[in-house]
Amino acid sequence: MELKRFKLILMVVMAFIWLYLLMQMFSDDLNKRPLLPRTRHQSDILQTRNITNQTLFPRTRNQSDIRISNKNTKFRMTQSNDNCSHYNMSKQNIKQLKGRWSSPIVVSKYKLIFFWSEKSACTYWKRLLQLIQGINKTALHNARSGLTTLKMFNDCNITAMMQSNQWVKAAFVREPRERILSSYLDKGQYKHVMNELCRINRQVSFYEFLEIIKRCKEGHWGQQVRAPKHFYKQMMIGKFSEISSFTERLLKRIGAWNETVVYWITSSKHIYQPHSTNAKSKLLTYYNNTKSQDLIFDLFSDDYNVFGFEKTYFK
Ligand SMILES: *[C@@H]1O[C@H](CO)[C@@H](O)[C@H](O)[C@H]1NC(C)=O
Ligand SMILES: *[C@@H]1O[C@H](CO)[C@@H](O)[C@H](O)[C@H]1NC(C)=O
Ligand SMILES: *[C@@H]1O[C@H](CO)[C@@H](O)[C@H](O)[C@H]1NC(C)=O
Ligand SMILES: *[C@@H]1O[C@H](CO)[C@@H](O)[C@H](O)[C@H]1NC(C)=O
Ligand SMILES: *[C@@H]1O[C@H](CO)[C@@H](O)[C@H](O)[C@H]1NC(C)=O
Ligand SMILES: *[C@@H]1O[C@H](CO)[C@@H](O)[C@H](O)[C@H]1NC(C)=O
Ligand SMILES: *[C@@H]1O[C@H](CO)[C@@H](O)[C@H](O)[C@H]1NC(C)=O
Ligand SMILES: *[C@@H]1O[C@H](CO)[C@@H](O)[C@H](O)[C@H]1NC(C)=O
Ligand SMILES: *[C@@H]1O[C@H](CO)[C@@H](O)[C@H](O)[C@H]1NC(C)=O
Repeated sequence: MELKRFKLILMVVMAFIWLYLLMQMFSDDLNKRPLLPRTRHQSDILQTRNITNQTLFPRTRNQSDIRISNKNTKFRMTQSNDNCSHYNMSKQNIKQLKGRWSSPIVVSKYKLIFFWSEKSACTYWKRLLQLIQGINKTALHNARSGLTTLKMFNDCNITAMMQSNQWVKAAFVREPRERILSSYLDKGQYKHVMNELCRINRQVSFYEFLEIIKRCKEGHWGQQVRAPKHFYKQMMIGKFSEISSFTERLLKRIGAWNETVVYWITSSKHIYQPHSTNAKSKLLTYYNNTKSQDLIFDLFSDDYNVFGFEKTYFK
């Protein structure tokens, strides 16, 4: 008798669980259905456009672009949240975009995503990007700089921004041999720096440094290709040797070029000089054989390929 009643209760409980699971599956199915009824579909579009408009597209540069990109996106938004299922970027790509050492700077006001790297005039660029946003902060290389970076956004927003042609993407890079020598003169030649970053407690020569950076990875001598390679096809790419003309080209493109900015640039040329430690003039002294240059061609082959730097030996 006891046993029979227990079995009955068990069956009732099981039935409830099954019913619950069934309902879950059914509601999931509803949300996943690609062909939504017409009215529902339209209200979803409206909702998406509002969110898109308010969060990711604060300044409408080109209305027709927004409409086009909306049409291309498959709307599978549920009432509660958009979990990005309609975007096509891999987790790995998103992780790479967020940055291992440095995260790209996002300037929402001008819809710019700027891929910078250490030792490539980054102080200059950060100050300039602060200026055009009216940020008045002394901090520059930490969280108090007031600058927004890509890793502060969620995966959904990153995907949307990277795939929208409303957002300008730009990268600023420097010839790898020049940059690595600058890293050495600025960091690598100092014992305390190498101890802190690479656990090598002695002063190292330039050639030793080149051998060390093969295994001791760090932003100051990490490669400058920081996004999945195919993104660079749609990016504006500026090089250290043309910093002035590129600044003008970029700021004109995003609409931030004005007298105040021009004045700041002309009076701030010194900003990226102190760090550069006269690297250019020292190139021949330090790269006095082909071996060290081959080492860099090899270690930074992605930078050479993606940004089109010449692999000709210094003479
Ligand atoms: C979206 O826009 C419509 C009209 O364009 C408006 O009625 C609605 O309140 C907006 N929704 C939100 C969440 O802003
Ligand atoms: C989108 O933003 C633009 C400009 O910011 C504004 O004119 C327009 O009304 C907005 N549209 C919606 C649906 O909120
Ligand atoms: C990111 O996107 C979500 C919707 O997916 C939105 O609610 C949120 O406000 C966005 N955040 C930013 C910083 O744009
Ligand atoms: C806006 O987009 C349309 C279609 O993509 C294009 O023809 C037009 O040149 C764009 N206008 C601007 C100002 O970018
Ligand atoms: C996103 O939504 C789809 C369909 O609505 C669902 O299958 C998927 O599990 C969801 N992913 C996450 C991470 O919530
Ligand atoms: C993802 O979608 C965008 C536009 O919706 C398209 O330009 C891009 O090529 C797609 N990427 C992949 C890897 O399919
Ligand atoms: C130039 O742009 C900056 C930053 O956007 C702004 O603060 C400043 O008021 C502008 N100056 C002029 C003369 O338009
Ligand atoms: C920036 O802030 C300092 C105080 O923190 C102030 O003295 C200075 O006038 C400000 N500069 C501008 C351009 O607002
Ligand atoms: C090349 O430079 C290194 C220092 O970087 C120096 O020790 C070496 O003697 C130089 N070799 C020649 C051939 O000048």
